[in-house]
Amino acid sequence: RRSFEEEAPVRHRMGDRAAEKPADGSRIPLGSAAIPSTPGKFLNTPDTDMTTAANQEWARQLLPRIADSTLGVVEAEAARVDSEKEVHDIISGALRAQEAWAARPMSERANLLRECARVLAEHRAELLEVAASETGKTFEQGDPEVSEAIDFALYYADNAEDLASRDDIVFEARPLTLVTPPWNFPIAIPCGSIVSALVTGSAVVVKPAPQAMRTGAYLVRLLHEAGIPEDVLRLVDVPENEIGQALIGDERIDQIILTGAYETAKLFARFNPLAKIKAETSGKNAIIVTPHADLDLAAYDVAHSAFGHAGQKCSAASLVITVGSVERSRRFQSQLADAVLSLRVGWPTDPTVEMGPVIEKPGEKLERGLTVLGEGEKWLAKPEQLDETGRLFSPGVRTGVKKGSEFHRTEYFGPILGVMHADTLDEAIEIQNGTDYGLTAGLHSLEPAEIAEWASRVEAGNLYINRGITGAIVERQSFGGWKRSAIGPTAKAGGPNYLMHLMVGSDPVEGE
Ligand code: SER
Repeated sequence: RRSFEEEAPVRHRMGDRAAEKPADGSRIPLGSAAIPSTPGKFLNTPDTDMTTAANQEWARQLLPRIADSTLGVVEAEAARVDSEKEVHDIISGALRAQEAWAARPMSERANLLRECARVLAEHRAELLEVAASETGKTFEQGDPEVSEAIDFALYYADNAEDLASRDDIVFEARPLTLVTPPWNFPIAIPCGSIVSALVTGSAVVVKPAPQAMRTGAYLVRLLHEAGIPEDVLRLVDVPENEIGQALIGDERIDQIILTGAYETAKLFARFNPLAKIKAETSGKNAIIVTPHADLDLAAYDVAHSAFGHAGQKCSAASLVITVGSVERSRRFQSQLADAVLSLRVGWPTDPTVEMGPVIEKPGEKLERGLTVLGEGEKWLAKPEQLDETGRLFSPGVRTGVKKGSEFHRTEYFGPILGVMHADTLDEAIEIQNGTDYGLTAGLHSLEPAEIAEWASRVEAGNLYINRGITGAIVERQSFGGWKRSAIGPTAKAGGPNYLMHLMVGSDPVEGE
């Protein structure tokens, strides 16, 4: 196998955390508790700098702990809920505690979020350990997630203080928020959802995905350690039966922050039609590559957007649409094959792994995506099962995917990419928009007129030009979708309007 990266041009990509190096060349050493701090200015938290000997040693010591990690076990067990009455009592308790919580000044809650950020930074290693152990998240994918979780806490703290300082509108908390985060981002998404609701003055009941219960439990423990009152933030593990329904359907829940499949969001809306639902849901995301693209860069970005975390991101690229001569020249396909086959696949105990396992043995839909070709499709890289666990696959790429076909429209949530072709940019945009979803979308073109045309027509919440389409960064690329990729207010996570939409506002008018 050739290393694709040896051939890729040196480049500076917008939004790379690597580009955030301070002018003096220093980096915050990882494994330390340091978080960036400049009064009055939000700064993103840097990821681990693996070029320093200290950080390499820090990671070396962390890896052997992954296989036998017991972090979160005790907390997860304690959170198990066995009856509908227990659900009822937990909600009553959270609501009682909420009054005192909401009565605290906003600045006090904001400062508690800053303390949460500090505690999370101090426990970066443990968060990586439990997420890798429970969900198979690799170091490369988990490390930015911890940075993002810290960023959410710091960013929403600043935002909350800004809201509180407004004199035109008075914002009030919704008393109780149910947070149901996913397993694929088991650190950042629960953290962002929880702290955003908490800082507004809401109480939070959080039900992590069963596959990421321990990671969620450990995260909640850290937030409690940072000073969030235990009765204001309650962790629950409810089964998906009438007990789960009793939780979701309790009419005392004012709002639900859900990240998961579109169908799950619909179910929640049926169980609790009165709650405000803010849901980030499914995606079927494509990157268009035109003849004006830097093809080396495009191949690299497509491969990483498609196969980071084994494709298990709502933001992942699952289609690439080649335009005009890009297909005919064959060069792009060969670059793409090189980039994909060069990805290092394995378990997170190996720090160099770029693509880890899928969360569990593939269900029927993913199994189909990994094995069944549609009419006219061929394997450019055939996915192979790599070990007896049934969870590790080599990346799969199919070419010849037709407009309107099953692969064009279905989200598989796994390590599988489809190549489609369009004669013109116009047709490519039509294909890109031709799904039910609108979460992320990419364009590779160095031609300004193409970029302008594309940006004005593409139907997606997060648009990326000449870069990968995953890994949104708090404040720089707030995250949220259109169409069936989102339900509820359009305010995006990690963006300036998010908190406002979690609150109710009144705008006082005085008599003359
Ligand atoms: N925020 C993540 C990303 O941008 C997806 O949830 O990849």
